[in-house]
Amino acid sequence: MGGARAAGWVAAGLLLGAGAGFCLYRLARGRRRGGHGLRSSRSAEDLTNGSYDDILNSQQLQKLLYLLESTEDPIITERALVTLGNSAAFSTNQAIIRELGGIPIVGNKINSPNQSIKEKALNALNNLSVNVENQMKIKVYIGQVCEDVLSGPLDSAVQLAGLRLLTNMTVTNEHQHMLNSFLADLFHVLLTGSGTTKVQVLKLLVNLSENPAMTEGLLSVQVDSSFLSLFDGHVPQEILLRVLTLFQNINNCLRVGGHAAVQPPFPEGSLFSLLYGEECVQKMRALVCHDDMDVREKVATIIPNF
Ligand SMILES: *[C@@H]1O[C@H](CO)[C@@H](O)[C@H](O)[C@H]1NC(C)=O
Ligand SMILES: *[C@@H]1O[C@H](CO)[C@@H](O)[C@H](O)[C@H]1NC(C)=O
Ligand SMILES: *[C@@H]1O[C@H](CO)[C@@H](O)[C@H](O)[C@H]1NC(C)=O
Ligand SMILES: *[C@@H]1O[C@H](CO)[C@@H](O)[C@H](O)[C@H]1NC(C)=O
Ligand SMILES: *[C@@H]1O[C@H](CO)[C@@H](O)[C@H](O)[C@H]1NC(C)=O
Repeated sequence: MGGARAAGWVAAGLLLGAGAGFCLYRLARGRRRGGHGLRSSRSAEDLTNGSYDDILNSQQLQKLLYLLESTEDPIITERALVTLGNSAAFSTNQAIIRELGGIPIVGNKINSPNQSIKEKALNALNNLSVNVENQMKIKVYIGQVCEDVLSGPLDSAVQLAGLRLLTNMTVTNEHQHMLNSFLADLFHVLLTGSGTTKVQVLKLLVNLSENPAMTEGLLSVQVDSSFLSLFDGHVPQEILLRVLTLFQNINNCLRVGGHAAVQPPFPEGSLFSLLYGEECVQKMRALVCHDDMDVREKVATIIPNF
């Protein structure tokens, strides 16, 4: 379809409120079938490759971005964000949107007082974030996203969208240090949130725990002693296994090359004092006999390190 006409159609579809985001997404997927049969790939490296088909062309994306920048209408804003987010599921568009200056345009929408718009902006940024160069531009929002995640209503859509974005921004070690000052609050969300929230916070913490540069910060953070109840045998497996992985990763970082890489002492009430205290030892011993084999195996890799 011709650039200008198509772009007009995009805008018209949005303005008419005709569910354009969804239609465009369908259109995009339809066209892809003729291509390499590739959908979105997983690694950031793959996605920066830029060898995949286009979906919306850059004029169309530019039009969408202009619309997003200029409209005051929350419904149009929301649709434009969803359409951009969906189109950003494809690597070519991630680069085009960045080159068109789209990341700050989307990023500014996380300041919206409207929670629904804030959430859609976080989701769109999340799809844009599966790209190393985009991450360089998205990192300026990490502090704000942390504040939204931590101060927003517990278990809300905004909180979960923010946590997903932070998780995808920390799949590499590059930007993890930016979370250092928010660790205590993240543990608080972990302990107070629903199961879904817990899993999402743990995905993030597990990523951080693989990074030796984060170990000292993690171990010195003040954590409520209710943290240890996450090691109880009846805790759902998707949570328990992640908590154990967190412990395992910290152990590994702590004892690089057989000697302590990070020097205690850590203060009373710190994660260190909880993980390496007597109560945790007992909980780990109890988990040796857990019903789930994955749990037992993970515990077995941790216990010798005590
Ligand atoms: C892009 O990916 C394709 C298939 O994954 C590969 O054949 C090609 O060499 C890659 N190109 C670059 C520039 O990395
Ligand atoms: C927030 O945006 C949604 C649509 O995106 C709209 O339906 C809702 O009315 C807006 N809320 C406020 C308070 O403006
Ligand atoms: C993000 O991309 C995924 C595909 O990776 C797509 O299913 C999803 O709808 C997109 N979400 C948003 C909000 O952009
Ligand atoms: C976030 O990262 C995960 C794991 O690396 C990946 O599976 C997922 O597709 C990413 N999310 C989005 C919206 O791209
Ligand atoms: C982060 O966690 C995801 C799974 O949640 C994993 O695929 C990825 O390899 C991890 N990245 C790092 C650097 O630990």
